[in-house]
Amino acid sequence: MRIALFDSGIGGLTVLTEAMRRLPKEDFLYFADTLHVPYGTKTLPEVKRFVQESVNTIMQEEIQALVVACNTATSAAIEELRRTYDIPIIGMEPAVKPAVKRSQAAGKRVLVFATSLTLSLSKYTDLVARVDDHKVVDSMPLPELVQYCEQLQFDRDEIERYFNRKLSGIDLAQYSTIVLGCTHFPYYKSLLQQILPPHIELIDGSHGTVERLCSLIGCSATPSKGYSGHIEFRCSDGNPAYLDKMARALDYLQTQYTL
Ligand code: DGL
Repeated sequence: MRIALFDSGIGGLTVLTEAMRRLPKEDFLYFADTLHVPYGTKTLPEVKRFVQESVNTIMQEEIQALVVACNTATSAAIEELRRTYDIPIIGMEPAVKPAVKRSQAAGKRVLVFATSLTLSLSKYTDLVARVDDHKVVDSMPLPELVQYCEQLQFDRDEIERYFNRKLSGIDLAQYSTIVLGCTHFPYYKSLLQQILPPHIELIDGSHGTVERLCSLIGCSATPSKGYSGHIEFRCSDGNPAYLDKMARALDYLQTQYTL
């Protein structure tokens, strides 16, 4: 089986990493919309158009399922995509529901990191309205973190300074859970674990997304260390340097994730 994953840039590789662990024999096509990255600071009509163009290109390929490995693209365009194509299309949304559940057990609040566009759209605001009965969810856009990630900026001091600035007005003692609601952010999971107070739990949507993929395509998910399928990287501007960057970013992620 060949499964496509799509993001504005290298963010969706965090989902691909999880998919490679869960589906170690399947082939993947990874497509990045390098002509338009980042999505999170653009308007809804722009992102809708970028997503439709990218997915049109991807659908020319022989694929059996598509994972929109991008919270912003999902919020902007998943319904239209599902109406247009008849293969399974799996989207992503910030993992607010499990975060609220866990924070309630601890009597604390939830902080959601995502892009500005994701946080402004009704898919997100409706989700929060549905699950946040006790008004414990706060949100913070982190557009600069997408840029750092696209530059493969993983320097601890730089990232620590950035988060110190961003979180300076926030009393982290009130929070138990931070949701990484953008697929670029799990690159910083282990750094964040070192920077943030130890009681803070970080959660992201890649695990749930891959579970959903597995159930839709009828694959039994067998976690494994050895990936033996084939991965093809593509990007909308066809820049070979970016293809190389994707391969390096995926290597970086493999060193970050432990089975
Ligand atoms: N990785 C994307 C997400 O999950 C979008 C980042 C961007 O292009 O701004 O939201």
